[in-house]
Order: sequence, then structure tokens, then C-alpha cells
Amino acid sequence: MGRGSAVYRRLMLSLFGNRMLGRLISRHGARLAGRFVAGRDRTSALLVVQRLNRLGIAATLDHLGESVRSLEEAAGFREEYLRLLDGIKLQKAKATVSVKPTQMGLALDPEACFRNVRQIAERAKKAGTSVCLDMEDSRYTELTLELVRRLHDEGHRNVTTVLQSYLYRSEEDASRLLEEGIPLRLVKGAYQEKKEIAYPNSEDILLQLLKLIRLHLEQGVFVAIGSHDDRVIGEVRAYAEKFGIDRSLFEFQMLYGLRMNVQAELAQSGYQVRCYVPYGRQWYPYFTRRLAEKPSNLWLVVRNLFR
Ligand code: FDA
Repeated sequence: MGRGSAVYRRLMLSLFGNRMLGRLISRHGARLAGRFVAGRDRTSALLVVQRLNRLGIAATLDHLGESVRSLEEAAGFREEYLRLLDGIKLQKAKATVSVKPTQMGLALDPEACFRNVRQIAERAKKAGTSVCLDMEDSRYTELTLELVRRLHDEGHRNVTTVLQSYLYRSEEDASRLLEEGIPLRLVKGAYQEKKEIAYPNSEDILLQLLKLIRLHLEQGVFVAIGSHDDRVIGEVRAYAEKFGIDRSLFEFQMLYGLRMNVQAELAQSGYQVRCYVPYGRQWYPYFTRRLAEKPSNLWLVVRNLFR
């Protein structure tokens, strides 16, 4: 990252990591999160998806929650995803789901997590859609990749995952996953990682992201690009134009509440666009990662309060 933005990010992540402050904001700040979160329940979230679909924007729904403390809690989250997938099917929504492996119990019991995700993948198949395993901090990278590989080996081809371009290891992971036919969303990465394992500089992270995207486009393999960065979007458009790459081979993904006008414009211009729509009560960690990404996101929230 640039020095200023790296300092800002560290400051925000440690500030919001404070337990007292976290409790206070979680209790009183639901309105704050409204800018980035589609609602507290799946009915509200599915309504948002309906509106997005009408604009030609697909969705990926995320039921907020991570790092569960018990397997019972994980099972509760799994059940919510199963009901959500039934809702997607019923509504014929153009939507996939995104799941955090630690919400399914990855940190407690990888086997139980595997079973939970497998159930979700099976239900997703019935709903004619797919499941993306979001990538969390580097403690879970290997375990998440093992999870998705195992699911593919068992024939659950509708499971995808994410690679973060800030990790040095991602280049190698991307090549292997490409060979294995596991579809990816490529992002810069949203967690605080040590410089021993991750690029600390924003220019390097951007260049790595572009490199990983190109790797896919060159080989004609579908890739989802999770970024709001004009440089990323512009480079991908120019590259696709120059080499005649079909628009069905890539998809722009952005977060709900951010650059909604850009999402609509891209969709109108004939690009595939998918909006990441989070909902639920456990919005605090998601919300703080968004604030840590950019000072302007903090302003969006403050402005929302005074509307
Ligand atoms: P970044 O914040 O780096 O900003 C770069 C430039 O883009 C800015 O200088 C500005 O010009 C422009 N820009 C960015 N946001 C803007 C805005 N709101 N308005 C105007 N201009 C803006 N991370 C992770 O670790 N694991 C995961 O599984 C995922 N999943 C995921 C899914 C999707 C759909 C998205 C979009 C992102 C993720 N991420 C993620 C988060 C990702 O890693 C990253 O932290 C954020 O997307 C921020 O990086 P950007 O490339 O979007 O822009």
C-alpha cells in the first residue's frame, strides 16, 4: 500500500478491533452499516437482489458472520444459507452465494466445515447456482483451498473461491487452480498481513492483480474480478478489447453500496456485473473492513447518518 493508506488501514483496523468500541458500535450503530449492508434478514436482501437484477446486475449473497464459537452456531448459519438458496430458486433470482469458511466452522473443525459447505453446495446445485468460498486471513488460505479442492474432487463443480493478489503465494496458487479447473474471484485482499507473506505496497498489489487476471484471460478461462478500482476495470476492458476476448469470460464484481452507478453503467454497456450483497445482524467485522479500505468509505457512512 502507499504509506499513507497503509497507516490509515492499520489505524482503523486496530481502532475497530477494540472490544469495548466494537460492542458499543454493534449495539447502537446498525444505521451506520446501512450503507453497506442490504438488511437484517434474507427477505430484505432478496428484495435488493430483485432490484439489482432488474438493472441487469447479478448478485452474490453473503449472510454476514465469521469465526463462529461453536459448531451449533455454524449449523445455524448453514441452515440460513439453505433457506436462502430456496429463496433464490423460488424467486428465480440471478444470484449465487458467498460463504466465509470460518462461519461454517473451519477454525474449529475442518471436517464439520466440509460437511456444512457440501450441504450448501448440494442445495445450490438444486437451485441452479454456485457457492463462492470467500478468502479470509492467511491462517485459512491453505485450509480453504483444501476445502474447495476436496469438494471439486467429489464432483461439486459449482464451488469457487477467491485469491488475494497481496499474498506472494497467490501467483502459484492461481496457476495450480487454473490447471485444476477451479473458478476464481480475484481481489486485492482485505486483511492485515505481515510483509513476510504479503506485498505491503498498493502498486505491487495492483500489478499482481492485473497479472493474475491476465493469466486467466490469456487462457480463455472465466474469471471474476472483485475490485472498484478504475485502473483495474479500465485495464481489463482495454485488454479484452485489444485481444477480442469474449465478455462471457469475465465478470466485474463490486460490493453493495459502493460505486453503484459504475456497476449499472458497466451492466448497461454489456459487461457481466455481479454485486456482492451482504445481509444479517453480524455486520460489524465486514463494516470495519470497508471503513479501513478507504477514508472516503468513512465519509459515505457519515453522510448517510445525516440524510
Ligand atoms: P481500492 O480500495 O484499492 O482503491 C483503489 C482505487 O479505486 C481508489 O484509489 C479509487 O480510485 C478507486 N475506488 C475504490 N473504491 C472506490 C469507491 N468506493 N468510489 C470511488 N472510487 C473508488 N477481500 C478478501 O480478502 N477476501 C474476499 O473474499 C473478498 N471478496 C470480495 C468480493 C468483492 C465482490 C469485492 C469487490 C471485494 C472483495 N474483497 C475481498 C475486498 C478486496 O480484497 C479489497 O479489499 C477491496 O475490494 C478494495 O480494493 P479495490 O480494488 O476495490 O479498491
